[in-house]
Amino acid sequence: MHKIDIELVNMTLDVMKYTIDRISATEPKIGIPRKAEDLKALVGETVTPKGIGGEVAFNLWKEHLMKANVSIDHPRHLAFVPASPTRAAIMFDLVTSASSIHGAYWMEGAGGIFCENEAMKWIVSLTGLPEGAFGVFTSGGTAANLSAMVTAREYWRENDIFKGEKGLIIASIGAHSSIKAMAKVIDVDVLLVDTEDRLLGSNLQATINNLTAHQRKRLFAVVATGGTTNAGIIDDLAGIAVICEKEQLWFHVDAAYGGGALAADSVRHLFNGIEKADSITIDPHKWMFSPYDCGAVIYKIPELAKKAHSQQGSYLDIFKDEGAHGFNPTDYQIQLTRRVRGLPLWFSLAMHGTDRYKEAVERGLELAQIAGRLIQEKPHVELVRNPSLSCVLYRRIGWKPEDYTHWTYENHRKGFALVTPTKWKKGDTFETVSRFCFINPDTTEKDIEMILDSML
Ligand SMILES: Cc1ncc(COP(=O)(O)O)c(C=O)c1O
Repeated sequence: MHKIDIELVNMTLDVMKYTIDRISATEPKIGIPRKAEDLKALVGETVTPKGIGGEVAFNLWKEHLMKANVSIDHPRHLAFVPASPTRAAIMFDLVTSASSIHGAYWMEGAGGIFCENEAMKWIVSLTGLPEGAFGVFTSGGTAANLSAMVTAREYWRENDIFKGEKGLIIASIGAHSSIKAMAKVIDVDVLLVDTEDRLLGSNLQATINNLTAHQRKRLFAVVATGGTTNAGIIDDLAGIAVICEKEQLWFHVDAAYGGGALAADSVRHLFNGIEKADSITIDPHKWMFSPYDCGAVIYKIPELAKKAHSQQGSYLDIFKDEGAHGFNPTDYQIQLTRRVRGLPLWFSLAMHGTDRYKEAVERGLELAQIAGRLIQEKPHVELVRNPSLSCVLYRRIGWKPEDYTHWTYENHRKGFALVTPTKWKKGDTFETVSRFCFINPDTTEKDIEMILDSML
């Protein structure tokens, strides 16, 4: 298994050929899920005492299993938050694996961590955070949000009067589900301000003013969103920052999806106030064209994260020794052993330069505007709200929720597109509407037009 033989050589060539084919396909098959029992019937027993051989296993992958995955980078995949990793980043993902790097400690992964940090410097520079701010790459936005919330809570609990208290954080209902999920993990309560629109400093202040004295004591952090997943809405970060400073609350900005737009000059001003954050989440695997999985958490004062996350253990002592000194990513987030998952991003940034990143993000923003215009021109559809960042919410006039669901499945079944419905809150009710989220710069106006026309 660990020897080099002809089977290994053949398998390696097959993998390289497959990889080249896949990344050079401009319109990969969109792929469709199948039931586990159907897949089992197609491929049979694959894990056996003697093995089925690389060639057979790889053929099963190509013939059946790969086709049961949705290609997230298909130009007409506009559902959820799609992805569009650069080809350079994908190739360097292979290099990252082939290099077998343990990315927790500088002593073991200095070269890889150095590269990650170069990419991180660029991301931090986009935020405008003050000198000394820095971050690390995580498995995604959920892990980044969790790492930041743990840091905030530990910092709050440094004060003895809060030690026995269950923490409370404020976010808006537009905040991503991972905020509520991670609050459960760290056993803190979340108070959701009832607005799916922009959370304003004034909403936040009013919410704080309405807290009971005990709730106010338990409140330690506010999570604002820098691009809601549903509609691309950026909270009033400047206003919220002022309130957080005044009320001495940790200010976290979840820009997992929207953070890539910090690179776009046309919308950068919408994020004003982000430079006042105590911590920020940005997912390079969303709008920074990195392969999965690559999130990032950034701290204004990284030392606070180190206090919260640094692991102790006799077998780890050597990493803290003078001779091993360097930046240890494990100290700033929840994971110990980690892949140097920022390495593919670094390579792609180094190869293409940051200007190309700006252009690719601007294209996503432009596609949202194009979609907005087309929707206004066509009588059978209408905008629910103006496009925000790269999200567009629109309705098909006369459709019921089940029509949207049927249309989604039909387009997917045909291998044409994946566009899914969402809900938008209107007063006290939720309306089912259709949603585009643009990431892939290869999506064309024609693609959008064809999708809209398929609603006729
Ligand atoms: C605003 C926001 N926060 C957090 C997340 C969770 O990120 P991940 O899926 O990388 O864990 C998402 C995912 O879409 C998101 O849009």
